[in-house]
Amino acid sequence: MEKMWSGRFTQDASTLLEKFNASIMFDQKLYREDIEGSIAHAKMLAHQGILTDEECSLIESGMAQVLSEIESGSFEWKIGDEDLHMAIEKRLTAIIGEAGKKLHTARSRNDQVALDFRRFVLRKNREITGQIKALMGVIVDIARDHTTTVLPGMTHLQHAQPINFAFHLLAYASMFKRDCERFESSAHRNNISPIGCAALAGTPHNINREMTAQSLGFDSVSINCLDTVSDRDFALEILFNISTLMMHISRLAEEIILWSSYEFRFVELSDEYSTGSSIMPQKKNPDVPELLRGKTGRVFGNLMGLLTVMKGLPLAYNKDTQEDKEGVFDSVETAEISLEILREALKTMTIKPQNMARACKLGHLSATDLADYLVEHCGVPFREAHHITGRAVARAEVLGIDLSDIAYTELHAIDERIKEDVMPFLAIEHSMNARVSQGGTAEVRTLEQIIYFDHYLKDI
Ligand code: ARG
Repeated sequence: MEKMWSGRFTQDASTLLEKFNASIMFDQKLYREDIEGSIAHAKMLAHQGILTDEECSLIESGMAQVLSEIESGSFEWKIGDEDLHMAIEKRLTAIIGEAGKKLHTARSRNDQVALDFRRFVLRKNREITGQIKALMGVIVDIARDHTTTVLPGMTHLQHAQPINFAFHLLAYASMFKRDCERFESSAHRNNISPIGCAALAGTPHNINREMTAQSLGFDSVSINCLDTVSDRDFALEILFNISTLMMHISRLAEEIILWSSYEFRFVELSDEYSTGSSIMPQKKNPDVPELLRGKTGRVFGNLMGLLTVMKGLPLAYNKDTQEDKEGVFDSVETAEISLEILREALKTMTIKPQNMARACKLGHLSATDLADYLVEHCGVPFREAHHITGRAVARAEVLGIDLSDIAYTELHAIDERIKEDVMPFLAIEHSMNARVSQGGTAEVRTLEQIIYFDHYLKDI
């Protein structure tokens, strides 16, 4: 097959080369961005008198036909065309003739691919942000019903202090809000038009980069053409943003897996979002959160992959950069489906407050409250209070009970400064509600956090 670039060649490319060199199997995903970019470029060329108005309208109508062929599935993607840019231009020229051959004036595939890919990434930054906010909406709605549902807060996966389930979920809402901000700030930073940089050095044609930038919705025009055609920071940023998002999703997934086990049984995933075993009839497995946790690995891999591709590249464009797309497509698809399924799995998950409450009776969760009581009500220095409380815990262990159930007389025998008014301080709900410092778990503070997130999400 004759190539667009074959003027200086005397032999045809080998089929092996064609297969190895091509990106058309995966970059066809960018067809919308490519066609829109070409139309904007043609309009600018016409505005500058480089194309006639007739040529420009032919390009526009030809591109409309190409678009509908692609969307109806009748467009033929051929490996010999190498990439989508050449396939689309070739088809355009077949439809409209000579005018099609003028489209590439003052343009190179180097700025063309930088444009298409950048616009794809910008769009995905926005779409993923919207999906994260939808997930946050579900999380905040569940939280609303559980501001008094007490469960053991943990450190080192050991029972630490009682918290409420809403507070626990809102920790994830906080992570997801930061994720949204990261996607938004990347979209903002990278909203810069590459088109018009041509191969690397700009072009002698009298083009108007401001015009194409504006018509494609960019905030501004890039500063340096050499940088622009080789820069893939925007792709690295979305890979990092997705990696951090998936790391957060994976942590939540890990907790759902733990909570679904019979050791915890704090939650139960719906049948719709659980799977069975081929041999053990009783099994109901949390495959969804397990896959969320597992898929995080490939997303991290995609980030490392592109960082490694970029690290040794001399300026400007090198074919290595063609390796930028598959990892980004994969990470984007992974993030999209992960956000969707996590949202649905959470919506249909049953929460088991009694099991959470029962777990609060294990591990002496109110020990810090006894120490705080000694400090506040008996004037004992904290270090000493810590020691006295340790002895009370040891006594409760000997008695085989939880500290929250210990008799006042036992405590008084350990330190006579402990009076009967200590008892309410040992209750689990009291312990949770005592933590009223800003951002704390007390119900009043948790309700404030719900209001905060409601406000953040009000426009979605
Ligand atoms: N398919 C190429 C890529 O994805 C397009 C740019 C090709 N440019 C070139 N000078 N070979 O990077």
